[in-house]
Amino acid sequence: MAPPSFPVPLPPRTPRTPGRIRVLASSACLMLAATGLTVGPAAANASASPAPAASSASAAVDCDAVPCVALTYDDGPGPYTDELLDTLAAEEVRATFFVVGENAQSSPEPVARTASEGHEVGNHSWAHDDLTEKTGPEVARDLERASLAITGATGSWPDLMRPPYGAVSETSLAHTYYPAILWDVDSRDWTGLDSDEIVDSTMSQVSPGSIVLMHDSIAPTVEAAPELIRRLRDEGYHFVTVSEILDNTALEDGTPYRRRP
Ligand code: NI
Repeated sequence: MAPPSFPVPLPPRTPRTPGRIRVLASSACLMLAATGLTVGPAAANASASPAPAASSASAAVDCDAVPCVALTYDDGPGPYTDELLDTLAAEEVRATFFVVGENAQSSPEPVARTASEGHEVGNHSWAHDDLTEKTGPEVARDLERASLAITGATGSWPDLMRPPYGAVSETSLAHTYYPAILWDVDSRDWTGLDSDEIVDSTMSQVSPGSIVLMHDSIAPTVEAAPELIRRLRDEGYHFVTVSEILDNTALEDGTPYRRRP
């Protein structure tokens, strides 16, 4: 589940047309109807719940006026996801979770909880395959399948995706009907660091506008969360979702984003 250690070259921007987005959205709705996919009780509760207070509070954050950071957690849901959600709730911090579709399908409850507590839920592919090894239509089907599972858990179609391993190609991006969210800070939690090292690694790289790569599938990352939040707060950071940290950007499908410009 770890990103590669080699840098990923970025191809040129591939703008999408609004018409294409509209067609995909309606085909997704048709698929939902045709497959008779039902939204479970967890998702029904999630969509019926009022927006948490933290959500409206953070919506007022102006990332041009104060330092912002977007913490992102990939590869879940998993055994440590609920513990991380407990920490984030206690600290009144919102984050972004890029979940794996097959995990969301087998364990929808933590995904529903993630959304209902005001975090952003993005698509991290169906089974964490390297999308650059698929054909374009396979990429589109893979991401659509994952979004259907996420929607089954949260009641909402995800707005963002993160390519597994941060791996993108011109072909994969041309068939990615979402903004492709990368990162400018790699916590390197996937290299076997302990929790103190994860905090130090992140703090040594972070700057206002950063998007931080972490994994809620890794125990030391979840252990590191309280200290990481404390250190970032001490430096004046406000915690926002990826969509919020990029709110000064006109996001385009099939285009990679690494941080607030
Ligand atoms: Ni991943």
